[in-house]
Amino acid sequence: MRVLGIETSCDETAAAVVVDGRDVLANCIFSQVALHGPYGGVVPEIASRSHVQTLPRMIDQAVSRAELDWSDIDAIGATFGPGLASSLLVGVGAARGLAQRLDRPLIAINHIEAHIYSVFLDDDAPIPEEVMPFIALVVSGGHTMLVLVTGLGQYEVLGRTVDDAAGEAFDKGANLMDLGYPGGPAIDRTAKEGNPEAVRFPRGGRLKASPMLGGMDPALCFSFSGLKTALLYYLRDHPLDGSEEVVADLTASYQEAIVEALAGRCRAALERREVQALAVVGGVSLNSRLRARLADVAADAGVRLLLSKPSYCADNAAMIAGLAGAGRGKSGGSDLAIDIDPNMRL
Ligand code: KG4
Ligand code: ZN
Repeated sequence: MRVLGIETSCDETAAAVVVDGRDVLANCIFSQVALHGPYGGVVPEIASRSHVQTLPRMIDQAVSRAELDWSDIDAIGATFGPGLASSLLVGVGAARGLAQRLDRPLIAINHIEAHIYSVFLDDDAPIPEEVMPFIALVVSGGHTMLVLVTGLGQYEVLGRTVDDAAGEAFDKGANLMDLGYPGGPAIDRTAKEGNPEAVRFPRGGRLKASPMLGGMDPALCFSFSGLKTALLYYLRDHPLDGSEEVVADLTASYQEAIVEALAGRCRAALERREVQALAVVGGVSLNSRLRARLADVAADAGVRLLLSKPSYCADNAAMIAGLAGAGRGKSGGSDLAIDIDPNMRL
C-alpha cells in the first residue's frame, strides 16, 4: 500500500510517500523556522498561512520524488491532532480534497503515535513485533511523555510533563541566553565546548502525587519550569559578558539538567516495567548528549535503544504515511466524519 502522508500540525510543512508502512520513497519537508525566528516562537497565524502557500509544492515534490503517478497512490494519511488548530486544518483540508479527487481512503493519524512509529521507518529498522513491549520517551517542542508500548495501537502513558515540554525548556533557555530560535540545536552545539558541571541547575525536582498527575507515578513525570526560572535568576546575578567560554559552560550545564531529568525518568521507568527496548523520539531526540546518556541507561538496564533516523526525529510526514500504511488510524472516504482535534490524546 502506497500512502501519501501529510503533516502540518505545527511549523513544518511536510509530505511523504511510504510503501507498506516502512519503505520511504520520498520525505519532503519545508521548515518555517526562519519565518518564526524573529518572534522567538511559533506564531500560529504565520504558520497556517505558510502551510497554505507551501503544502501544494511539498505534495507535488513527494509524488514526483517517489517517481509515482497520482493514480499509484492508494491512500492519503494526514495528522488530525494534536497540534495547532489553524495549521491542522490546512493539511486535513488538502488531504480531504486529494482523497476525493483520487477516490482513495482518507486516514486520520495521531501525531504522537506517529512520532513513536518513526523508529520503524526504513528497511533496516527493527520490526515492531520483535521489540514489543518497549518504553518510548516522546520529547519534542510540544510534548514530553513516557509511554509503555505493548503493540501498535496499545499505549499506556506512564508519565508526562506537568508544565513545559523538554523542547520548550531548550527553546526558552536559549532565548534567555540570546542564542536564537529554535534553541535546542543552538544549545546542543554550544554545549559541546562547555563543562556540564560548571553550574548546578535543578533536575526537575521530586514531584508529589497530585490530582494534576491523573494517577500517574510522580517518579515518571517531568517539570521544567523551575529550571527555566533558575536560569533566569542565574543570569540576573551573573549577566553574560560576551565570553564564549561562559556561554559554553552555561549551555552545557543547562542541557545537562534537562538530559539528566529525562534520563533519570527513563531509568525509573525501566526499573518498573519489564521491556525489551527504550525508544526516544521527537525533535529533542536529536540532542547528542541525550542520545549518549540514554545509550548508557539502556545498556545498564540490558535493553535495546531505539532511535529514529535524524530525518524522522523532528516533525515529518514519513512517520504519518508510515503509521497509516501499518494499518493504524481511522480510515474512511473523503467524507470521513472526523474533525481535527488540537488536543487529541494518544
Ligand atoms: O518534534 P519537533 O520538530 O516539533 C514538535 O512536535 O514539537 O521538535 C521541535 C523541538 C524544538 O523545541 C527544538 O528546539 C528541539 O526539538 N530540538 C532539539 C534539538 N534539535 C531540535 N533540542 C535539543 N537538541 C537538539 N539537537
Ligand atoms: Zn512533533
